[in-house]
Amino acid sequence: MRGSGPLEGSVRVEGAKNSVLKLMAASLMADGRSVLRNVPHIVDVEIMSDLLTSMGANVRRTEDHVLTIDVGPDLIAEAPYELVEQMRASIAVLGPLLARAGFARVALPGGDNFGPRPIDMHIAGLEALGVEFHSAHGYIEARCDQLTGNRVVLEFPSVGATENLLMAAVRAKGTTVIDNAAREPEIADLCAFLVRMGARIVGGGTSSIEIEGVDELSPVDHTVIPDRIEAGTFLAALGVAGGEITLEGARADHMDMLIRKLGDMGMRVSPSSDGVWAQSKGRIRAADVSTLPYPGIATDYKPFFVAMLAVAEGVGIVTENLFSGRFRYVDELVRMGADIRTEGHHAVVRGRPRLSGAPVRAPDIRAGAALVVAGLGADGETTVMDAHHIARGYEHFADKLAAVGAHVTPS
Ligand code: UD1
Repeated sequence: MRGSGPLEGSVRVEGAKNSVLKLMAASLMADGRSVLRNVPHIVDVEIMSDLLTSMGANVRRTEDHVLTIDVGPDLIAEAPYELVEQMRASIAVLGPLLARAGFARVALPGGDNFGPRPIDMHIAGLEALGVEFHSAHGYIEARCDQLTGNRVVLEFPSVGATENLLMAAVRAKGTTVIDNAAREPEIADLCAFLVRMGARIVGGGTSSIEIEGVDELSPVDHTVIPDRIEAGTFLAALGVAGGEITLEGARADHMDMLIRKLGDMGMRVSPSSDGVWAQSKGRIRAADVSTLPYPGIATDYKPFFVAMLAVAEGVGIVTENLFSGRFRYVDELVRMGADIRTEGHHAVVRGRPRLSGAPVRAPDIRAGAALVVAGLGADGETTVMDAHHIARGYEHFADKLAAVGAHVTPS
């Protein structure tokens, strides 16, 4: 791609990757046909489809953004290494399999390669519901005769642990309370899906969720919420390239802190009748950013802030509070002429008027997309290698950017 701007026009925001993967896993909990709408065409959905298929479900795209999942009575309660290693979110099948079969054998997760990403909170929470764990040969085996409701206080509001506990608790005997639960919009979407299936859940999307176990769940038809990270990616592209765009289908109320921060940086972002409208005039201003669990600024936005700050006026400090080792793309940005110093979980970014196009390598989904965003603010040509990472989480990313005027061509 080449330096671009101003951007102009409309971009459609797809369904949320981090929601749809969990909803697909949750579909295992009811026999029959569940229908998911607003399902993005991304590789991670294909990996989750392969995983469900390997367990005996029948997963099909019946229309463009519609996925149909048929679940029969006999499921193979196992998530094999070949699939789990490709996508850490595969661990989301643990709760549903326990709820359904009282047994699960799941390969220990791999996925994005940023720092250690343990599952100790998933395990401790499920143990409190009566599950016994045994690990051997790279797999964990989980077993319980009867899931039993309990109060679980999470050490940290982990998204994945909250989701697995929720899904198990829905079929437990009695009441479960998850305190210090994650509050991400994707958790609220999962709760809405489960409630539609027949679950009894109060407080989804807040830090205290109460679940009363039920005996039976039915398949449902559900529309996935829009992807706030994809929306944030296009906002970052606008910050770098300038212009005025509409994000069709995006929800401003899922991006409060992001919108406030972009406002501090000189952008205008507001809800519109069909999504979110945004404008960026002139050079953006630097600001300090700290990632936090929702409603704080998502860790997934971090590489986009680093890319924006690389061309902003002034100096900004980005602090990562969730994952270690998520600054690997910084070396690639430095190769593009960015002035960035990292120290522990901080990055100090001194803005330059322009970057300099270079060949760079995408290390993961979001950092890969952030390198594309940075390329919009670079003189000359930038080539992002290993761009297959981007396709794990973005539908037609390059084409969508090109449609609003960016000089990007898919490889
Ligand atoms: C999800 C998202 C990911 C996002 C993250 C935080 C999906 C598919 N992925 O990941 O894009 O960046 O939320 O918003 O939805 N931790 C433990 N022990 C555990 C669980 C987590 O120590 O048992 C730690 C993790 O290593 C990490 C932090 O807690 O440092 C947050 O992890 P968590 O919220 O669980 O993220 P994921 O669900 O893996």
